[in-house]
Amino acid sequence: MIVCKTVADAGRITREVKKQGMKTGFIPTMGALHNGHISLINQSKKDSCFTISSIFVNPTQFNNPADFEKYPNTLSLDINKLEAAGCDLLFIPSHAEIYPDDFVAPHYNLGFIETVYEGKYRPGHFQGVCMVVHRLLEIFNPDILYLGQKDYQQCMVLEKLISLIHSTTKIKICPTLREPDGLAMSSRNIRLSPEQRIKAAELSKALRWLKENIKKGDVRPMLNSGIEQLEKNGFSVDYFATANASTLEEVNNWNGQLKIVAIVAAYLGEIRLIDNLLITYPS
Ligand code: PAJ
Repeated sequence: MIVCKTVADAGRITREVKKQGMKTGFIPTMGALHNGHISLINQSKKDSCFTISSIFVNPTQFNNPADFEKYPNTLSLDINKLEAAGCDLLFIPSHAEIYPDDFVAPHYNLGFIETVYEGKYRPGHFQGVCMVVHRLLEIFNPDILYLGQKDYQQCMVLEKLISLIHSTTKIKICPTLREPDGLAMSSRNIRLSPEQRIKAAELSKALRWLKENIKKGDVRPMLNSGIEQLEKNGFSVDYFATANASTLEEVNNWNGQLKIVAIVAAYLGEIRLIDNLLITYPS
């Protein structure tokens, strides 16, 4: 695996690879890698791509400074994991490489998608995500961008970004990897105390319960009991909702046929966890 730290090196190596006619797959990350991240690397390798990953804890997407300060850093372990997975090129830029002094922050017209759920509870978050991914796409211009369904709304936002910037990169969304008790793998999970870690499984349990029991008609009573159940387990819930899977418009009255997604965000202590499950008919 080649490790590079500058935009100039990353761009040069990628251009050389492309000249040789190889397809490129890109997996952007913020490090503290787990098997969810590695599954994206595996998919890119399976698709015969020259596989590029980046590790950059992007400050512009953190609306909470404490969350940024405490974001886990496990760089040497990350490098070993990527190497073992067969990643070909790893980019570990400094802040100045991504955001040089003359960098002008663009504004992305994301529309409705930025006004709901993560967009509503984390103002500015998706602008920051777009800013860094746009920058990375300019450097690598990959054939395929691999993203995890775990961050469902982020996938939709990045699809919008790709169209806004007229990029030719295709997005491939990969399934959420989970721990044996159902908890979606996340870099933030290592910050959970042992007690919180046990409780954390309730989040995916609530989603599964909804998916298995949902009927057409008013969904709100189920959503409310889901929230109650999570609160009983010590969560502070930002949202637990069902939405149109293609637009993220809230669906409170389900016709039993529309493809919807159940999405949840909740705090356990200081740690904010998110998860989602797709619900298709028949569910
Ligand atoms: P990060 O949280 O490190 O996630 C990097 C990629 O891994 C994202 O596409 C995310 O959806 C995916 N991922 C995370 N957990 C997963 C899981 N349990 N199963 C499958 N895939 C999973 O998302 C970001 O970083 C940043 O916002 C980034 C896109 C890198 C921009 O800074």
